[in-house]
Amino acid sequence: MISIEKLNLAIDQLSDTGYFIWDDFISKEDVGELVLIASQGNQSGDFKKAGIGKQALFQLDKSIRGDYIQWLDRSNPNELVLQFLDKIEVLKNSLNETCYLGLKDFETHFAIYPENTFYKKHVDRFQQNAHRVISFVLYLNENWQEDHGGELALYLGDKTEIVQPLAGRLLLFRSELEHEVLMAYKKRYSVTGWMLDKDMSLTFLP
Ligand code: OGA
Ligand code: NI
Repeated sequence: MISIEKLNLAIDQLSDTGYFIWDDFISKEDVGELVLIASQGNQSGDFKKAGIGKQALFQLDKSIRGDYIQWLDRSNPNELVLQFLDKIEVLKNSLNETCYLGLKDFETHFAIYPENTFYKKHVDRFQQNAHRVISFVLYLNENWQEDHGGELALYLGDKTEIVQPLAGRLLLFRSELEHEVLMAYKKRYSVTGWMLDKDMSLTFLP
């Protein structure tokens, strides 16, 4: 269940500052299970090297990003993954009702950053990806220490917010904000996604 107070706080902060940190979005038990699902998927070859750009402009470049991803949708056999998708759907609909963001859909994937990888400064909403409105990242790193690095640096113009990728934490931010995944010195797990202002099956259209 999503707490109404927390939801209202998220809505206020997203419109005031452009981001919101939601701790304990899922329980520690669920975090453990999702990590297991991700690492099993990784071992069975379901993950692929993440690229940059879309379709014809797609390229692989590990000097820009070093993560491996697996897309998640309703065909996923894991009950917990489906539960997470449901929770994001509820969140998306609530944001819509209150903020009139015109959110129609979302896309999401597991991400694994192997040791000593990063994702250089970028925005999630750009010409080839014009339909991303709100970015969300659920972190799955139990016992993460400061010296493991892997923080998300969110550039807010006058200040930079450094977010630790702590287990159960959901970070929400406006997709046009510049951000960066700093070097992770330890394997880093997350579920990353975007709420879109267009139906997923139509995002290949301008
Ligand atoms: C991304 C991204 C942030 C994070 O995948 O576009 O910026 O903290 N991820 O994993
Ligand atoms: Ni990003």
